[in-house]
Amino acid sequence: MIISPSILAADFLNLEQEVNVFRGQDDLWLHLDVMDGHFVPNMTFGPPIIKQLSKKTDLPLDVHLMVTNPQFYVEELRDCKLNNITFHLEAVTNQLELIQLIKKNHQAGISIKPKTQVNELTDDLLSQLDLILIMSVEPGFGGQKFMHDSLDKLKKLSELREKHGYTYQLQIDGGINSETAKLAKEAGAQNLVAGSYIFNNNPQDYIKLVDSLR
Ligand code: DX5
Ligand code: ZN
Repeated sequence: MIISPSILAADFLNLEQEVNVFRGQDDLWLHLDVMDGHFVPNMTFGPPIIKQLSKKTDLPLDVHLMVTNPQFYVEELRDCKLNNITFHLEAVTNQLELIQLIKKNHQAGISIKPKTQVNELTDDLLSQLDLILIMSVEPGFGGQKFMHDSLDKLKKLSELREKHGYTYQLQIDGGINSETAKLAKEAGAQNLVAGSYIFNNNPQDYIKLVDSLR
């Protein structure tokens, strides 16, 4: 099980120290929530901070774009060392084109909001994706309550992958704690994003909390 701590809940003024707590950990990605104050009401950080961070850590960087114009960010981050870039299905009309652009340099993911159904992910998208991110809260804020209908989406997408031989990894984001992690794992999640569950604690406990989700 891969755990992706979301730095949204970290101490931004001590980001380097926060991130270094995870140095050398296996199966651990850093989840970077990019919000533009438009696709979601909240605003975080963009390419300048991501580029700086990528020079300070060897951990795989998992970029979650909650923005209206993901193509701009994909182009800006073209030369940045990242694991994957995930954009929202709802933000884009030609998703396949954007997947192909991302795949020139990085792995490509699509995320769906709680109200978006799995059948909006067409076969041609499913066959090209490296990652699918199921939102189990409305995107925009940390610390919200897990929405249980997201579990059915994980189950459906696991079945579809099995049936058609797709290769995407299933990630879930929002309201993950030790209880919801168990449910998500049973439903087929392979990657759990967790923000407040990890970072709203003393840094010396971060690794223990990550392990409690596995
Ligand atoms: C919400 C973000 C999440 C957020 C999760 O829009 O995509 O990554 O940090 O926070 P928690 O784990 O606190 O629900
Ligand atoms: Zn996220």
